[in-house]
Amino acid sequence: MSSLPTSSPAVSSSTVLITGCSSGFGLAIAQLFLDRGWHVVATMRTPRADVLPASPRLRVLALDVTDAGSIRRCIEAAGPIDALVNNAGIGLMAPLEGVAPETVRGIFETNTLGTIAMTQAVLPQMRERRAGVVVNVTSAVTLAPLPLLSVYTGSKAAVNAFTESLALELAPFDVRARLVLPGRAPGTRFGANAASRMQDGVPAPYVDFRERVFAAARDTAAAITRSEDVAEAVWRAVTDAAAPMRLPAGADAVALAGA
Ligand SMILES: NC(=O)c1ccc[n+]([C@@H]2O[C@H](COP(=O)([O-])OP(=O)(O)OC[C@H]3O[C@@H](n4cnc5c(N)ncnc54)[C@H](OP(=O)(O)O)[C@@H]3O)[C@@H](O)[C@H]2O)c1
Repeated sequence: MSSLPTSSPAVSSSTVLITGCSSGFGLAIAQLFLDRGWHVVATMRTPRADVLPASPRLRVLALDVTDAGSIRRCIEAAGPIDALVNNAGIGLMAPLEGVAPETVRGIFETNTLGTIAMTQAVLPQMRERRAGVVVNVTSAVTLAPLPLLSVYTGSKAAVNAFTESLALELAPFDVRARLVLPGRAPGTRFGANAASRMQDGVPAPYVDFRERVFAAARDTAAAITRSEDVAEAVWRAVTDAAAPMRLPAGADAVALAGA
């Protein structure tokens, strides 16, 4: 197709491919695009038919963004893609001194290199059709630094810089690249998933500091981000050609971006 719809048609001929749809933001993004008439390729490391309601416009495909073969098979099976949403990501909240090198590499493999590899995989078809959009989900932690997130923030800040440069070289081909920066979303599986990577051990000098940071992070009074906020921001990034380069998502992220 030559251009992306700017409103919510009953049924669209456009197709969005979203990474990391098994839970959290990815699931909400897939649901919103289905509700608004798009064809959705919902990708998951372990495909499950039951996480989204059945629809003739929904396909669930296997995808591990750290696996080149998996990316190739997924893109071949998906067919033409009008919008790519790089949402898959993993977290880590730990003092750098206690993080194993393979854990650091794992974060960058998924968050940074996975995003870049997926983008490379869809660009030829978008450039040839002179239409398309790539939306990369990073994080509001790149707007204001927080402790214990050095590796994670580095992996996401790299995607910010990557996307902003890429957008300039894609513009002559009418292909867009945009960023969505969610705030803290305790409602997803992100924290629990991140905790599983935080078993490397905390160096003794950091134990008290880490406890204080974790206690502050549990502060339920603070503004938070909901999955629906992220889905709406991604929808805008995809369908509104005038959307800004960076879209904060969630009350806390919007406040940070405006600060
Ligand atoms: N929640 C937050 O506070 C927050 C804040 C700002 C930004 N973000 C970012 O938002 C995105 C979504 O996070 P979320 O909160 O929705 O967390 P989530 O519920 O843990 O979802 C993350 C998704 O990424 C998938 N994934 C992980 N590694 C993958 C890989 N190698 N290949 C393909 N998929 C992979 C997971 O699939 P599996 O089920 O296979 O593990 C899961 O579906 C991430 O990029 C995260 O960094 C989150």
